[in-house]
Amino acid sequence: DEVMVAPLIRTTISDDRGDEPCYDGYPASELINKGYEIPHVVGLLWDKRLISKQEAEIIKRIMMLSADHGPCVSGAYATILAACAGIGLSQSVAAGLIMIGPRFGGAVTDAGRYFKYAVDNKMAVDEFLAHMKKNVGPVPGIGHRVKSLRNPDKRVKELVGYVKSLNIKTPCLDFALEVEKVTAAKKDNLILNVDGTMAAVLVDIGFPIDSLNGFFILSRTIGLIGHWVDQKRQDSRLIRLFDYLVNYAAPKRREVPPLK
Ligand code: ACO
Ligand code: LMR
Repeated sequence: DEVMVAPLIRTTISDDRGDEPCYDGYPASELINKGYEIPHVVGLLWDKRLISKQEAEIIKRIMMLSADHGPCVSGAYATILAACAGIGLSQSVAAGLIMIGPRFGGAVTDAGRYFKYAVDNKMAVDEFLAHMKKNVGPVPGIGHRVKSLRNPDKRVKELVGYVKSLNIKTPCLDFALEVEKVTAAKKDNLILNVDGTMAAVLVDIGFPIDSLNGFFILSRTIGLIGHWVDQKRQDSRLIRLFDYLVNYAAPKRREVPPLK
């Protein structure tokens, strides 16, 4: 007799029950043999959409430009610290990924959300900035610890230059660049950053807001794995912070009073 069971989960993106996985219905081998690439797989699994060659090229460039930014940023530093403590690859990478949040790398989704909100509501830049200040806080996608008007972020220039060279409408990117004009004039480092740039571009090519942080997470995972392997290859020692890097502001050593 057949037993009816209520399904525990429902999936709409992939199926592995045949001889190979199908992504949104398309067999992986057929995608490969017809010339599709990793960005197309991202399009199928994140947006159930077979993206165009041009969109795939944009995503490839976003991934290449954001794969790593050296050892000093929160994510890489956390992975390196873990690697040096003898922690395994997946946990060390997870430690780095956990750093991706509203200040570092994880501002993509919110940048996309608010730039889109402004464009959809035909807001002027000043109106947008007033709205953000009153209701949200720092504008996601704007600002950088070390990059500024005087020390521009070449990754941003490269991506903006490429996307603007294409024959596509980019309302979010155009708006984000207008925002930058105003914020960077107020303070030199309030430039459109990597998170904000990729967010605006990805909204312009139709990716869902909730998927946007995924682009930074995916790309930076390449770098985090690199940092773990690099430390392992060098057989690096345990890291312990040096005292001189700490401002010890706790009370001076004192006598413990008798217990009452
Ligand atoms: N919008 C409005 N004002 C800002 C913003 C912003 N996005 N960022 C900084 N400011 C202001 C601060 O309010 C502060 O003003 P004050 O001097 O009047 O108090 C001043 O600029 C300095 O702010 P700090 O927080 O000290 O700047 P810091 O260099 O530490 O911040 C950071 C860098 C964290 C990126 C910040 O600009 C920010 O939070 N941006 C939004 C989040 C974001 O986009 N993060 C992604 C960065 S790119 C990446 O990680 C790949
Ligand atoms: C990055 O890509 O990690 C950054 O833009 C953050 C930084 O501080 O360099």
